[in-house]
Amino acid sequence: MATSILITGGAGYIGSHALVEFLAAGYRPIVVDNFCNSSPDVLRRVEALTGFPVVWHRGDVRDEGMLNAVFSQARQEGMPIDCVVHFAGLKAVGESVAQPLDYYDNNVHGSVVLLRAMDRAQVKRIVFSSSATVYGEPLSLPYTESHPLAPANPYGRTKAMVEAVLADWCASDAARTAVNLRYFNPIGAHPSGKIGESPRGTPNNLFPYITQVAVGKRAKLSVFGNDYPTSDGTGVRDYLHVSDLAMGHVKAVEYASRVAPGCFAFNLGTGRGTSVLELIRTFETATGRPVPYEILARRPGDVAQMWADPTAAHEKLGWWASRSIEDMCRDGWRWQSQNPDGYAECPTI
Ligand code: NAD
Ligand code: WQD
Repeated sequence: MATSILITGGAGYIGSHALVEFLAAGYRPIVVDNFCNSSPDVLRRVEALTGFPVVWHRGDVRDEGMLNAVFSQARQEGMPIDCVVHFAGLKAVGESVAQPLDYYDNNVHGSVVLLRAMDRAQVKRIVFSSSATVYGEPLSLPYTESHPLAPANPYGRTKAMVEAVLADWCASDAARTAVNLRYFNPIGAHPSGKIGESPRGTPNNLFPYITQVAVGKRAKLSVFGNDYPTSDGTGVRDYLHVSDLAMGHVKAVEYASRVAPGCFAFNLGTGRGTSVLELIRTFETATGRPVPYEILARRPGDVAQMWADPTAAHEKLGWWASRSIEDMCRDGWRWQSQNPDGYAECPTI
């Protein structure tokens, strides 16, 4: 019988790609999402893409009563939830500086409410969407999981706080397991072009900005700084394909079910850095679309360069990123060119 897992934030960018991989791997995922940064249309597309029905509930992870009902229903159906994969949260760094309480409320309080509902339902395993942002300014590169945590903004602090909550939650019951996945920079889209990233308003991140320039929605890209101590002066990041990242969650759920209980952290990245200009050039070559840009001043708060040491994920989870920057560009472009307005163009169900 299929194992039930609860996926919070399963309609979001990463959650929807993970949903596809969990369905393909034979799990029975149950999505809870309040659609504050997504749409139910995503779930309909996942159903069309995979051929599997998707069980979902519109709800907020801060609503303990709703979560209790979701856990109870799965139990009554004879398929109790075995593990939670927790994507739900807010993720814009600049917004977190302007509205920190929204971030502490959604990301930290929301996680605590979710853990209470898990306790009530006797669910002992969780996989959490953490972020490389928890490391802050790199003392050495690549970041290993033992690098000190010194997040530089409220968003990053919410991630480090939830990791600390999960460590205490695990320490208080010898049967509990938490797997913190520290994502580097996920980009691209499912190779089908049916699901992808659909930011509301002006994109905060580099890759969706590039694809929106390429499709003609924006005139040109602003490159934030070319005077960093990097090969070409622009910022360097560890970009990974969102479908590789999605597969990391299947591996993490498998790991949580076989490992001796405890609290673990894994970097999910490729181990390779790519500069802003390298990403632009690779995108132009892979897609044949020009990306006009101008060089502006550095963006406050940015680090010059960062990339992962993904060895632990490879050795313990059996995971590694296999897709190239070219793949990320081609797949991201397929999504953007086939859906110039993202999910906005779909009728709401
Ligand atoms: P996203 O905004 O596309 O997805 C988040 C989903 O959670 C959305 O569908 C949103 O509607 C939902 N949601 C938000 N608050 C909720 C709440 N209180 N209750 C129920 N649903 C709620 O973001 P994403 O890029 O898919 O990121 C997923 C997770 O991964 C987030 O926790 C994010 O902080 C983390 N993360 C993302 C990145 C990245 O670059 N995208 C990097 C590191 C970590
Ligand atoms: C990448 C590079 C920019 C936009 C952020 C969050 C982090 C994580 C992922 C969730 C940098 C440059 C960007 C643009 C540019 N999210 N850039 N022009 O800053 O590494 O990480 O998203 O956890 O927490 O901080 O990603 O895509 O914003 O920037 O030149 O319009 O592109 O300066 O060098 P970042 P990014």
